[in-house]
Amino acid sequence: MTDQTAALVSLIHARAGTAPVKLGLILGSGLGHLAGAVEGVAIPYADLPGFPHVGVSGHNPNLVIGDLEGVRVAVFGAREHYYENGNPSAMRLPLTVLKALGAEALIATNAAGSLRPDIRPGDLMLLADHINFSGLNPLIGEKTDARFVPMTAAHDPDLRAGLRASAQAVGVALPEGVYAWYSGPSFETPAEIRAIKILGGDAVGMSTVPEVILARFLGLRVAAISTITNMAAGMSDEQISHEHTKAMAPLGAAKLEQVLRHLLRQMR
Ligand code: HPA
Repeated sequence: MTDQTAALVSLIHARAGTAPVKLGLILGSGLGHLAGAVEGVAIPYADLPGFPHVGVSGHNPNLVIGDLEGVRVAVFGAREHYYENGNPSAMRLPLTVLKALGAEALIATNAAGSLRPDIRPGDLMLLADHINFSGLNPLIGEKTDARFVPMTAAHDPDLRAGLRASAQAVGVALPEGVYAWYSGPSFETPAEIRAIKILGGDAVGMSTVPEVILARFLGLRVAAISTITNMAAGMSDEQISHEHTKAMAPLGAAKLEQVLRHLLRQMR
């Protein structure tokens, strides 16, 4: 463990207690309020040296450590996106700390546009896999051979099965699909969306892929869920905007919370 990680772990233990964390959760755009469901301690990123200075509205830049459905969790109320500062590895330190706190797994969430007519705004989509449409990688510059991370089953089959079972138990539809990472911050053009569709994408968004790569690098099991806020560019007459994303995310957030709470109850 580096000195920086050890110092952050000590700081977090001093504020929130030393019980090991079981699961990490990253909240996407418009989903930040889910952190409020956790009974625990909120530590502002500003108090955690090296944590990102997230400047995207609709995010909640706190690390919340505590219990949700009787399971010790660490909730990242916000992530730094590549488009903020051009740094695809911005979440490396937070995820390294998550692992050092004892976590075995990570569930990442995001807001995304759908390319599938059967997956509509307000729906959830479980990521079966992803396409790194940006070509960027958070491990560029890593010097050890650990950088050659296998990505064949990056989206953990067992964790996904657990999420599907939980969704079914609470009556929430959770179709699986392929998420394409587009750098942003501008939205995609309709031609780019047609290209992503041909390449096999089912949803598109500006996050998550770097964190999935980092999680696998760190030896965390990982799964990710999109809350669909809009049909992708050119697929409907709807105006795509960040305001719209923030307004629509709570529709999926309520379903997401039900699924996650059920999953956590099985993990107790
Ligand atoms: N594209 C990219 N990111 C998004 C979208 C989209 O259509 N909707 C929400 N986040």
